[in-house]
Amino acid sequence: IVLILDYGSQYTHLITRRIRSLSIFSLCISGTSSLKTIQDLNPSVIILSGGPHSVHSPNSPSFPDGFLEYVDKNGIFVLGICYGLQLIVQKLGGQVVIGEKQEYGKMVIQVNVGVKDGGLFKVGGEKQVVWMSHGDEAVKLPEGFEVAARSEQGAVAAVENRERRFYGLQYHPEVTHSPEGMQTLRHFLLDICGVDAGWKMQDVMEEEIKVIRNMVGPQDHVICALSGGVDSTVAATLVHKAIGDRLHCIFEQERVMQTFESDLHLPVTCVDASVQFLSELKGVTDPEKKRKIIGKEFISIFDTFAHDLEQKLGRKPTYLVQGTLYPDVIESCPPPGSGKTHSHTIKSHHNVGGLPKDMKLKLIEPLKLLFKDEVRELGKILDVPVSFLKRHPFPGPGLAVRIPGDVTQGNALDILCQVDEIFIQAIKDAGIYDEIWQAFAVFLPVKTTGVQGDQRTHSNAVALRAVTSQDGMTADWYYFEHKFLDDVSRKICNSVRGVNRVCLDITSKPPSTIEWE
Ligand code: XMP
Repeated sequence: IVLILDYGSQYTHLITRRIRSLSIFSLCISGTSSLKTIQDLNPSVIILSGGPHSVHSPNSPSFPDGFLEYVDKNGIFVLGICYGLQLIVQKLGGQVVIGEKQEYGKMVIQVNVGVKDGGLFKVGGEKQVVWMSHGDEAVKLPEGFEVAARSEQGAVAAVENRERRFYGLQYHPEVTHSPEGMQTLRHFLLDICGVDAGWKMQDVMEEEIKVIRNMVGPQDHVICALSGGVDSTVAATLVHKAIGDRLHCIFEQERVMQTFESDLHLPVTCVDASVQFLSELKGVTDPEKKRKIIGKEFISIFDTFAHDLEQKLGRKPTYLVQGTLYPDVIESCPPPGSGKTHSHTIKSHHNVGGLPKDMKLKLIEPLKLLFKDEVRELGKILDVPVSFLKRHPFPGPGLAVRIPGDVTQGNALDILCQVDEIFIQAIKDAGIYDEIWQAFAVFLPVKTTGVQGDQRTHSNAVALRAVTSQDGMTADWYYFEHKFLDDVSRKICNSVRGVNRVCLDITSKPPSTIEWE
């Protein structure tokens, strides 16, 4: 595998994603993981990611003691990107200084000036546009290293020590703003490192089934909450394939139940927990608190379900299946200083950060290493109906994160459901549902003045959000036709009581997140 050591760059996940798109399995772990963790994964290539730190700051993260000896001894290729390059230079006896000019954004570099062709860049002399984002600069290279590219300003842009298998790029090859970046990564991994590009979803499925069978004992029972979305459905189908009817699912809406039973043959029980959720959320306005409460309630419902099952089966279920995805794991990581990872907490995804400590069930998260589009691919292999696979994602905490503030205010939930239904139906009628990654309405906790039927109204505003995305990590807002927006806005104000204003959210991620909370 290609192992990425994460030093906190916002792009780390993207490196993982890009490498997987070359049919090469890659995994990302904290840059300060122990040598044992790294050794256990047995990588053939290690990529040291970028990060917000300077190698000169007192607590700058680094690879563990013994790392250099380990890679040298085992013939492992190492590529440092941005901070990763500086780390290599500094640790191997070169010199990194705080740069005079900081280089951010697009830059032109010239490759293979003064080194022979065939290293990081196949042919010398050419110019490339790349995306830089760094303050520090490598000014003296360790022994045996050569400059493989320089920026037009003269700064070191790429280094290599072919004999010792160490390479470094000062820019970010993984972003689309570095047009030749992917070519360089591919050349590095396939031609230089000789990595096998044979990673297939079928293998992932078979491997996961094996792991689940090994983990769950023959007498153990497993429970799973279905949300009606892609992730939990695929996760449950996979576990069902592994252990059959020792899986027991619960689900909240009557509507989709039939499909679970008839098309997927999943054993499902229907529960209605809305009253319990709403009473716990009453008066709570802080988004993180809301997420934590939902996470806690979520687990307590399982505990009850598990207890009921125990009565029925004569033994307690031991495991809980969750459709946690790789992006959920990356984004919920604790902030720097906590000793776990180096990127910032964005929000507590309810199925990750929000889990209470005293949870009595052990977790099975078979999709934990996959991105959304990979889960859809896996679903296809598992014969999950296309209607499920194409359904827009729905957040674990549900509509609560689409009502900023108190979820129980007025008839916010009722209004939100009506508006959402009109919006989604209009999108389906316009034949654009599959072009959009996710679309939904948001209830705005503000009242505005309107005039409806010659009368002054003082009612709520709602926002419409629709985004395109590859994996939910970054997103762009969807460009609707004006006529579509006009029709939807009219329909909402004319048919939903309590709404007199419709807004369109035109922010990408970043700077916004997809959900409002
Ligand atoms: P954000 O709002 O973080 O959302 O940009 C990215 C994607 O994740 C979904 N989402 C969640 N999914 N548990 C989930 O299972 C959560 O707590 C959660 N929060 C957001 C969101 O709908 C989008 O698709």
